[in-house]
Amino acid sequence: MKRKRVGVLISGRGSNMAALVEAARDPAYPAEIVCVVSNRADAAGLQLAKRHGIATHVINHTDYATREDFDAALNDYLQGKKLDLIACAGFMRIMTPVLLERWAGRMINIHPSLLPLYKGTHTHERALADGVKVHGCSVHYVTVELDGGPVIARAEVPVLAGDTVETLSARVLAEEHKLYPEALAIVARQLT
Ligand code: GRF
Repeated sequence: MKRKRVGVLISGRGSNMAALVEAARDPAYPAEIVCVVSNRADAAGLQLAKRHGIATHVINHTDYATREDFDAALNDYLQGKKLDLIACAGFMRIMTPVLLERWAGRMINIHPSLLPLYKGTHTHERALADGVKVHGCSVHYVTVELDGGPVIARAEVPVLAGDTVETLSARVLAEEHKLYPEALAIVARQLT
């Protein structure tokens, strides 16, 4: 089977992007990471991607008057790369139908909670404040509803006595790095 061409969208650290790149080094993995795009020139993940020999590109959202204009520029770049799938990995932009419709069923995201719980930001703080005993991460399709698209895979972690945002987020992040490559493989294999 031909490996699916994947573009990764980031805004920062890029540790999940790196986990995808690492998984895709295996020739048997069903996807290859073709490019990494950031809306911020200072995203640390860009250097990480370059070190892995992956094409990087910056499209600065502040250069565009509207969300739609930014999305159109991003879409032009992604289309030019002839991608099959987009993987968002800490990409901190709300997307408009300009992108969402073009990539419907072909764009996925990783979120640090057990969706549908704790959509949005500050997920670890909110889980700790609620006193839940299980937390985790999810990979889902990106739709117009923020963090609300169909769930592809989830991984649970326990919430331990004495956990802080730091300890809990580190436990979840370790699971994210395993879950995202697994979920991308599922989606890539199913795509015709
Ligand atoms: C991760 O926690 C991810 O779930 C969320 O943003 C964070 C990105 O981290 N969407 P990184 O840039 O992949 O290290």
